[in-house]
Amino acid sequence: MTKIRWGVVGPGAIAAGFAEAMQLADGGEIVAVASRSQERAEAFGDRFGIPGRYGDHAALAADPDVDVVYVATPQSEHEAFTLASLRAGKHVLCEKPFALNAAQARRMAAEAQARGLFLMEAIWSRFLPAYRSLTEIIAAGRIGEPLQVRADFGFPMPADPEHRLFRPDLGGGALLDLGIYPVQLCHMVLGIPERVVAHGVIGETGVDEQVAAVLRHPDDRLGVVTTGLRASTDCTACISGAAGWIDLPAFMHCPQALTVTTPAGSETIDASHEGNGMQFEIDEVHRCLAEGLTESPTMPLADTIAIAETLDAIGAQIHPAAEG
Ligand SMILES: NC(=O)c1ccc[n+]([C@@H]2O[C@H](COP(=O)([O-])OP(=O)(O)OC[C@H]3O[C@@H](n4cnc5c(N)ncnc54)[C@H](OP(=O)(O)O)[C@@H]3O)[C@@H](O)[C@H]2O)c1
Repeated sequence: MTKIRWGVVGPGAIAAGFAEAMQLADGGEIVAVASRSQERAEAFGDRFGIPGRYGDHAALAADPDVDVVYVATPQSEHEAFTLASLRAGKHVLCEKPFALNAAQARRMAAEAQARGLFLMEAIWSRFLPAYRSLTEIIAAGRIGEPLQVRADFGFPMPADPEHRLFRPDLGGGALLDLGIYPVQLCHMVLGIPERVVAHGVIGETGVDEQVAAVLRHPDDRLGVVTTGLRASTDCTACISGAAGWIDLPAFMHCPQALTVTTPAGSETIDASHEGNGMQFEIDEVHRCLAEGLTESPTMPLADTIAIAETLDAIGAQIHPAAEG
């Protein structure tokens, strides 16, 4: 079987996790890596046995041996690197948050659609065994219609103005980086919210360091999300219907089990897996490419854009000058 050939842009923390997960995925290999520095590309190439090493992104985009680009830079660069890769004829898997705002997300989606190329936001949660189980349990009606989602993801980080999470120029802040997981869960379970009410605490560097939002979804359904970079929180989620609820334990974006509670009792379902779990989203890209799909049915571009719109709506209420 011919392997799908990947190029990685941004050889940082998550790119290393991706390269480890590639060992567990079916039918792919990383053939090239691009950094802003040749030295760092060489180091990543040595570490993971990658033959192509580039000191700039354009050279990777021009590499005829690359089928699909994984954009793993900070979010400030996602639009530029995704558009450049698509314009060079490559399929793209772009890390979350897909973009800094919905306007960028729409431009990226339009480029892929115009070129007939595959594009997906790397919301890996949706491909994990726990999220597959969650979808099945809801579809089976075990908790009734889902009416509420409560979801939290955050952790205390020492305020470091050099770290990307505290840098506005790199798209830092809790909301875009961490809050996207509770928000995407609300979208996945309850649909697109009609209204959003949010409060946020902005830190010294100008990024949001605490956020709480209530999402009003169609048919009287509510999502309640919290995220932050200051408090130690439980990082769990709970999906409730009239007949019961489903608990996602910490960390709610990548749990290894889930518990369903109904009047009949509680059942904990094992959802453990090998490795860091990123192999499931890689498998999805491979499956979609093999089937000639330009979007994943599990993480379609319409969902990505809708999630970006919700993040924009929250952001506009907590950063009064941040719209656009
Ligand atoms: N799926 C997940 O669970 C998960 C987890 C963590 C992060 N993420 C997402 O993945 C992305 C990267 O996060 P990370 O923690 O891996 O970040 P990171 O290590 O700070 O940065 C990734 C790499 O991007 C390059 N880079 C940094 N700043 C850049 C800039 N201004 N322009 C171009 N390239 C730049 C750097 O490589 P060079 O300097 O060598 O070019 C860096 O090593 C973010 O969007 C983040 O939200 C996802």
